[in-house]
Amino acid sequence: MKTYVERFEDLGFGMFVHFGLYSIYGKGEWAKEICQVPDEKYFGLVKKFKVTKNWAKDLVKTAKDAGCRYITLTTRHHDGFSLYDTCGLNEYDAPHSAAGRDLVREFVDECNANGIVPFFYHTLLDWYNKDFNTDFPKYIDYLVKSVELLCTRYGKIGGLWFDGMWSKWDEDWQEDRLYGTIRKYQPEAMIINNTGLSELGKVGHPELDSVTFERGKPCKVDNSDRHRAGEMCQILNDHWGYAKNDINYKSVKELISDLVDCRRYGCNFLLNVGPCGNGKVKVLDKAILTEIGKWVRANKGFIYEARPCDLEAENAIMLKGNGCLYAVVDAPMASDPNVALGGALKEVNLGTEIKAAHWLDNGKKIKVKNGKFTVEPFSYGTSLIKRVAKIDL
Ligand code: GLC
Repeated sequence: MKTYVERFEDLGFGMFVHFGLYSIYGKGEWAKEICQVPDEKYFGLVKKFKVTKNWAKDLVKTAKDAGCRYITLTTRHHDGFSLYDTCGLNEYDAPHSAAGRDLVREFVDECNANGIVPFFYHTLLDWYNKDFNTDFPKYIDYLVKSVELLCTRYGKIGGLWFDGMWSKWDEDWQEDRLYGTIRKYQPEAMIINNTGLSELGKVGHPELDSVTFERGKPCKVDNSDRHRAGEMCQILNDHWGYAKNDINYKSVKELISDLVDCRRYGCNFLLNVGPCGNGKVKVLDKAILTEIGKWVRANKGFIYEARPCDLEAENAIMLKGNGCLYAVVDAPMASDPNVALGGALKEVNLGTEIKAAHWLDNGKKIKVKNGKFTVEPFSYGTSLIKRVAKIDL
């Protein structure tokens, strides 16, 4: 039987969603701080937070099309606004906004109806609750009660993803109490706490089930005391929350390479979208995720179940899973001048005898001799960046 941490690793690829009042501004999730929006003005945005009926449907469909198996939604971000019903903790939540309903409930229902595992991002840093700066222990009581609501009112969840401890490293966050609350109600929920850009991959509190690599490149996870997962998150452009003037998009090639880099070390890849103020995902974001989804579908055996292995091959990243090996290679196109002019194609040397192999993207057999094979280029009209060879042992 797999543990919940191993099952999380099998999810492989997730979608991060930054959505909240800041989405109305369209200047990223830090707009309040960076643009110095006065409190009354910013908190007044609740009156403008009109969210379309089908926002959760739209989101879950986008994730499914991309081949994501889980979604991590910002249930509360640094501005302190909750997408869930705080049940009286304050009135700064979605039910008291123009949306007039519990958006986390809609999100969870839609995920469950579509076989997507719901995860909750939750801020630790808070710009709304004054206790955060004046009475920290009181703030922690509020935080724990908030998390308790998330753990008890929405059925089984995939995990909690905290962020913002880096704002006050020296304070007593009462981590034992916070994580203990999650374990009490959701014993199999992943507990993740974003270490921030300066502490990539660092193991924090022992209760944490995964390390984070933020936008940094993943590497081997420190599993010296117990099995722990790793997760890298990435933005499509330069902001997590919707930023209407941000056109600095990464290429599909870069994002697929990030995904492969993650799986190479058994880490998950969490790719972000920032829906607009009404909850709709931008057409361009959807298009990018759909293209990634095509690659993921063509190589699906490798994306979810394959794990790093000790085998070292020349010119290939090696993984194992489902009783076979996978070799991931960079493949040129047949029209690449190097190839067209009879230049040498890369040879993969597995260093071991094998039975048979085929390409995952088109099912074609690969001729292997003495554990070696030549990377077949993509035919003209096709350029999928990376090819995965499935190797029977
Ligand atoms: C940083 C940012 C935050 C964002 C997070 C995503 O911590 O402060 O806005 O949600 O990264 O990883």
